[in-house]
Amino acid sequence: MNNRNYKQDFPVFSEYPQLVYLDNSATTQKPQTVLNAAEQYYRAENANPLRGLYDLSVKATEVYENARAAVRDFIGAASEREIIFTRNATESLNLIAYSWGRANIREGDEILLLISEHHSNLLPWQILARETGAKLRFLECGADGAYTPAALQNALTPNTRLFAAAQISNIFGRVNPIREFAEICHKNGTLIVCDGAQSIPHIPVNVQELDVDFLAFSGHKMLAPMGIGALYGKEALLDAMPPFLYGGEMIESVTRESATYAELPHKFEAGTVNAGGAAGLHAAIRYLREVGFDEIRRREDALTALAFDGMKQIPHVRMIGADDPAEHHGILTFTIDGVHPHDVAAIFDADGIALRAGHHCAQPLHRHLGIPSTARMSIAFYNDEQDIKAFLSTLKTIRRRMGYD
Ligand code: ALA
Repeated sequence: MNNRNYKQDFPVFSEYPQLVYLDNSATTQKPQTVLNAAEQYYRAENANPLRGLYDLSVKATEVYENARAAVRDFIGAASEREIIFTRNATESLNLIAYSWGRANIREGDEILLLISEHHSNLLPWQILARETGAKLRFLECGADGAYTPAALQNALTPNTRLFAAAQISNIFGRVNPIREFAEICHKNGTLIVCDGAQSIPHIPVNVQELDVDFLAFSGHKMLAPMGIGALYGKEALLDAMPPFLYGGEMIESVTRESATYAELPHKFEAGTVNAGGAAGLHAAIRYLREVGFDEIRRREDALTALAFDGMKQIPHVRMIGADDPAEHHGILTFTIDGVHPHDVAAIFDADGIALRAGHHCAQPLHRHLGIPSTARMSIAFYNDEQDIKAFLSTLKTIRRRMGYD
């Protein structure tokens, strides 16, 4: 593995030199370059973007729109009109459900989801189905977390209007075959929504190659500040959709009784936007590109294999998902016989190791697997072998520290 110490780029590791941060699927740490970009925006570029006719506001607008261009390029979208800034993946998914969903879904229609979906890609569809009389259906996976194109093909019916799936599950870490799914959906006249929250920091994502209709993701899981995310949508779809939120900035003209709306993408960006967050997201994209996805994959795969192989050798540790570290993309979810995952996380915390325990916002999946809750360690490229060794060395002690022989 390349020995470059990426932690040097992340101030949190200077603040807490002993920190072993293995909760990257929840949120990533932020490199100095991202902090600098957000600070530079507020120090020297801040005014209300898109409104002003003066220099500073023009500058703020440029920062904001340059970030949009960077996102477009990063995900391979055809046009900046297809990139809507939101707060996070959750807001992007809600936008689709409220705006596209309420205009297009009717009683008797079906919405198909993966049983492993995070709550953010489940609850908006639950509410839409309840309000419209549509039916929610689920594609189920086995213990390895795999979904095949054939299973999707069998599950689609002439009434399936929409299929929503994460590209990478936040529990299994497995990459779903989104391009094949999109092809099958489109032959059936079904739209496909892809939740890219867990994939976009780890693998190259190109919306035109995947041919998804919508892609949602958060900035904070890809080194950017919290509170900035994006929705990609095919232009014809976004153009035909009614606005999501109403107010300033998303209008063309307003009378006492009515309004006409701005063109894409601003139609979907009501109110003052998060330009500082967008500046940070732009810097995060630049930084990720400098590191490169080849390097990210090389490091994350090596660390995942090291952790996976070590975990398999510890008695009473049970892994969730595929029996092959290459399928996990840095996400290792597990249980320990006789120990509640919250106790597992508390013991790790006592040793300075941060990871997540609970249902990870995926309760239906836990029920499907027959497991109330799990612990999860999740790796980013800036982790190193010392982190994995520290993790394994604490993991070995947990049963003993909980009173087992
Ligand atoms: N979706 C985030 C996670 O899986 C919060 O931890």
